[in-house]
Amino acid sequence: MNVKVAKTAGFCFGVERAVNKVYEEIEKSEGKIYTFGPIIHNEEVVKDLEAKGVSVINTEDELKNLESGTVIIRSHGVPKHIYDILSEKGLKVVDATCPFVKKIHKAVSEESGKGRHVVIVGDPTHPEVLGIMGWCVTDNFTIVKNAVEANELIFENNMKISIVSQTTFNYHKFKEIVEIITKKGYDIFVINTICSATEERQKEAAEIASSSDAMIVIGGKSSSNTQKLYEICLKECANTYYIQTLDDLDLRQLELLQNVGITAGASTPKKIIEEVQKRCQKR
Ligand code: F3S
Repeated sequence: MNVKVAKTAGFCFGVERAVNKVYEEIEKSEGKIYTFGPIIHNEEVVKDLEAKGVSVINTEDELKNLESGTVIIRSHGVPKHIYDILSEKGLKVVDATCPFVKKIHKAVSEESGKGRHVVIVGDPTHPEVLGIMGWCVTDNFTIVKNAVEANELIFENNMKISIVSQTTFNYHKFKEIVEIITKKGYDIFVINTICSATEERQKEAAEIASSSDAMIVIGGKSSSNTQKLYEICLKECANTYYIQTLDDLDLRQLELLQNVGITAGASTPKKIIEEVQKRCQKR
């Protein structure tokens, strides 16, 4: 059997970097380690970290109650005032904010500092967007999540606007929103802050699925990006299987097949991908 694993399967650069930072910290830190929110949405990884003494704190109040230890900031980033709390409390900080997200923090801070109104295109409930909001130096910002909201925007005529986006936002939808705002005639500065990792993963998955007899998609059942990958692969290959771990793999389904492709969602650890790959190759 030929087994082809997508190069983009699993963690993106920013998530891999964040997870590695936690494991590095376990090696060298003597005190208690906390992550502010789960480092990734993968139960296996979070459980493994818990077993190694890493606790998850979820709220600002929990953070304020900490007396000592190391706090790791995950790849989504956090609002500026969280850093202020951390430094006031004298806690050690390991900042695993993805550098692409950091760039947005810097941009909104500068743009709002110049007196421009910042439009953040993204999901207002997503931690990354909440973090970005927290780097605007004034309340002079608006979150726009879709074209309907963009159509409803009304600013003063002389308003200068700078537009950024959540890193995982769909590029076509972002373009549509920017066009709607542009037509309103404001002075606009657009900073495209979309990260291509998700799109590249989807593109590669479709390519591999289209030339495979069967396609295996690995990821948590509740992971929306894995579900999307599954749909994309299914369109290209009718024998597409969605599994969470090696235990879900039914090799009988792959009998007599020549070419099998494998991809995985953004929160699937490399270890699980390799296990599945090895099992398929051994068949
Ligand atoms: Fe990942 Fe960073 Fe892009 S966390 S999706 S590489 S913005």
